[in-house]
Formats: sequence, structure tokens, C-alpha cells
Amino acid sequence: MPYFKNSLGRLYVGDACKILSLLQNETCQAVIADPPYFQVLLREQWDNAWNAPEEYIKWTLEWVRLCRNVLRKNGLLFIFGQLGKREHLWLHTCSQLTREMQFHDMLIWDRVVGYNERSDSFTPQYEMILVLRQNSEIKPYFDKDAVRQPYSDETIRAYMRDKRYKDKAARMQHLCKGRYATNILRVPSLKGHSKEKVGHPAQKPVALLRQLIAASTRPGDYVLDPFFGSGSTGAAASQLGRRWIGIECNLAYAEMARKRLSDKQRTPQTQTVQQNPGSLCV
Ligand SMILES: C[S@@+](CC[C@H](N)C(=O)[O-])C[C@H]1O[C@@H](n2cnc3c(N)ncnc32)[C@H](O)[C@@H]1O
Repeated sequence: MPYFKNSLGRLYVGDACKILSLLQNETCQAVIADPPYFQVLLREQWDNAWNAPEEYIKWTLEWVRLCRNVLRKNGLLFIFGQLGKREHLWLHTCSQLTREMQFHDMLIWDRVVGYNERSDSFTPQYEMILVLRQNSEIKPYFDKDAVRQPYSDETIRAYMRDKRYKDKAARMQHLCKGRYATNILRVPSLKGHSKEKVGHPAQKPVALLRQLIAASTRPGDYVLDPFFGSGSTGAAASQLGRRWIGIECNLAYAEMARKRLSDKQRTPQTQTVQQNPGSLCV
């Protein structure tokens, strides 16, 4: 029984592995997993549930295998990983996971501002998102046009001055589509005073999740998040008209997500992630 349901999604409260094993196989077009980091947030019980790194990796393999069952054959599995205090463990985890499933990409989430300052190296500013697919034979669904980024007016004017392009109207139309997003996703992390913050210590920005979902799913597809936290994946999926399934073991976080995702609170659907095109393209 879901803890909460609305017109687009449902949230289960409980252990990810237990609930994943009950879901129907090959139903989700994308899985977005932002799992515990392992002893990074020392005050959070959920980040300190393993005695040793090996135990954490064993558990990771267990939930990834279960997610794989639920993922469609042409789906993508996104897994957040954080550098900093546990850098070696994340690298070992990636290496194990790429033996388990087919490596597809490694995205960099550029948080714009540094965090977790360290005295012995550069200040960390990015997190990683490992992207896995089922196998090398089946091409995953990926819509690059869904995540184009607008050129600035200044760049458009500079390109339009290029004499090689005779058909100015066609050139303008092409430029107004924007450029393809790179695998470095620059989205500011949420600051304490941000209106989006709902109180989860590891809340991810909806703008970041929207890019992953817009590119890897179609409207109506299911997106699964087995570590739902405050429901950021559900919020992003709902805004894009995708269906979602969330799993969260902590009741207080599940309640945060419920409040955030109740139909009344939901922001209107927008099918695209493109924002703020320059005035030349309006
Ligand atoms: C990094 S946080 C996810 C934050 C989320 N992306 C957000 O934006 O709010 C990881 C979440 O996994 C949950 N969690 C930890 N172990 C779990 C388990 N075995 N089953 C389900 N959820 C679990 C934690 O309670 C925590 O909310």
C-alpha cells in the first residue's frame, strides 16, 4: 500500500530493497537514485548504517540489481555520488557497478559554489552522476533536443555576423533552438534560504532533476526514485508530466514529500526545460 498517491505518482514508505522487489519488472523508463553516501553526513542515521565500506558496496549492488529489473530495456539508471570525504569509496562503487551494468556516461553536477572546504586540496565544487544502461546492444532512449540551452543574445548576434551563412532566417531559426547541453550540468546547489528548501539535509535542486528526466523519458513514462528523500524527483517529474514512484524509509521525509507533492501544491506542467531564451528569440 502506498503511503501517498496522487494523479501522477505514488510514494512507498519502507526499505528500498524490500519494496523494489515487489515492483513490476521493466516498467520504469528511468531510475534516479540519490543513495546514502556512507559516513558523509555524520549526524544522519541513514548515512551511517554500514560498519565497513565493503558492506556498503554489497548493499549498493543489491539495490542496483533490483532497480535493473524494474528498468525498461532501453532505460537509464542515474546514480548520484559525492566526492569529498569518501572519494575512494565512490570510485570503487563505480568500478563495481560498471561490471554489473553497461557504463553509459558520467555526468558532472557543477554546484556553482564550493562546499566542504578542505585545506589540503582545491575546494570541491562538483558531484557526479553515474549513468548506467542495461547492455551495449540496446540503445537507450535519450532526447538531446529536450535539454537544449538557449544562446545569449550576444552570442546569437555574433553568429549572425558570420558571412558564411547566406540564409539568415534559417540561421536564426537554428540558433533559437539553442545548443545541446553538455555532460557538465551547471545548477546552483540549494542554499539555506532558498524557497525550494523543505528541510531535507541532502535535497537536490529540481532544475537538475528536470534535465535528467526531460532527456531520458517521454511524457507519461514512469521515473523511479528508490531514495526519495523530500521528493525532488517527484516534483521534477510532475512538472514535466511524467509519472513517478518513490521509496523512502524515513517517515518524516516521506511526510515532507507528501506535503510537497500533493496536487494542490503542484506547479503547472511544462513539457520543456528550456528557460529564458534571449529577447531575439521570443
Ligand atoms: C541523499 S538522500 C536523498 C535526497 C533526495 N534526493 C532529495 O532531494 O530530497 C537519501 C535518502 O535515502 C533514504 N534512505 C536511506 N536508506 C534507505 C533505504 N534502505 N530504503 C529507502 N530509503 C533509504 C534516506 O532516509 C534519505 O532520505
